[in-house]
Amino acid sequence: MNYEQQLSAYTAAVNGKLRLYLDAIEEKSIVSEAMAYSLMNAGKRVRPVLALAFCEMLGGDVQTVLPYACALEMIHTYSLIHDDLPCVDNDDLRRGKPSCHKVYGEAYALFAGDALLNFAFEVICGCFGDTSGDIALECAKVLAKSAGIDGMLGGQTRDKAGENTAVSLEELKKTDALKTGALIIAPCLLGVIAAGGSAEDKARAENYGAAIGLQFQIVDDILDVTGSTQELGKCVGSDTANSKSTYVSLLGLEQARQQAETLANEALAALAPYGEKARFLTEFTRKLTARKK
Ligand code: IPE
Ligand code: IPE
Ligand code: MG
Ligand code: MG
Ligand code: MG
Repeated sequence: MNYEQQLSAYTAAVNGKLRLYLDAIEEKSIVSEAMAYSLMNAGKRVRPVLALAFCEMLGGDVQTVLPYACALEMIHTYSLIHDDLPCVDNDDLRRGKPSCHKVYGEAYALFAGDALLNFAFEVICGCFGDTSGDIALECAKVLAKSAGIDGMLGGQTRDKAGENTAVSLEELKKTDALKTGALIIAPCLLGVIAAGGSAEDKARAENYGAAIGLQFQIVDDILDVTGSTQELGKCVGSDTANSKSTYVSLLGLEQARQQAETLANEALAALAPYGEKARFLTEFTRKLTARKK
């Protein structure tokens, strides 16, 4: 399989499994509809693809990591639904369509986010019977922590608190490491754990995820200034409208781009020990760092 075929296969596996999970919801309602609306829209699926690719690189079976990868995409989607709410970033467009709350209203968008978070952990609980309990427990811990106060939510809190205030570069780095880095390190670790990787593999996955996670947010900040709403599928200029400190506002476009490049190289260096086995991930990382959406 060439790179494009592999990427399509990974994405199709994730989308197919997400659809099965959604179909299994018994209580069909406006909220289950809102969950499906946000989850099945055109997300890039960066996080689940990372989980699948790390797992396969280390000789693991994609089917073992797939439920965790899907759970993570549910958590990520919930974070986007809540991030778009008027009380957070107040954004009306997401994944090329009106944001969840624009279609279903704030109350149901709030519930859809909550329901996706709970659903993710229901999926993980289901893994305890299917795979080794040790793997399930370790993956559950990774997901719980990376989504919570010492992860994404901690970062979202810092991001909100930083609006309209002078934030230092060090503070911003910590915010981004939590709000975006945590949920990007997580899938790399899930892949390693599901494949039964070593402590050294975990350390490399963390180094890779930390670098590419920060790089990802810097590029997100750059695209918020230089991108097009059409291509991104979300409104540009959101950070300025909310008086956020970003890499672009603190460093300017050129230095932000340089930082992103340095981090991309760090991420690629973390894959180097895997040689040929990291072929897909290396290409994926290159594409990700050059992304326009
Ligand atoms: C957007 O994530 C939020 C950030 C952490 C920057 P993505 O750019 O991965 O969004 P989707 O999943 O493709 O919609
Ligand atoms: C959000 O960062 C990260 C999350 C945890 C959702 P942004 O607020 O910059 O993400 P976008 O630009 O709305 O996708
Ligand atoms: Mg935000
Ligand atoms: Mg936002
Ligand atoms: Mg953004």
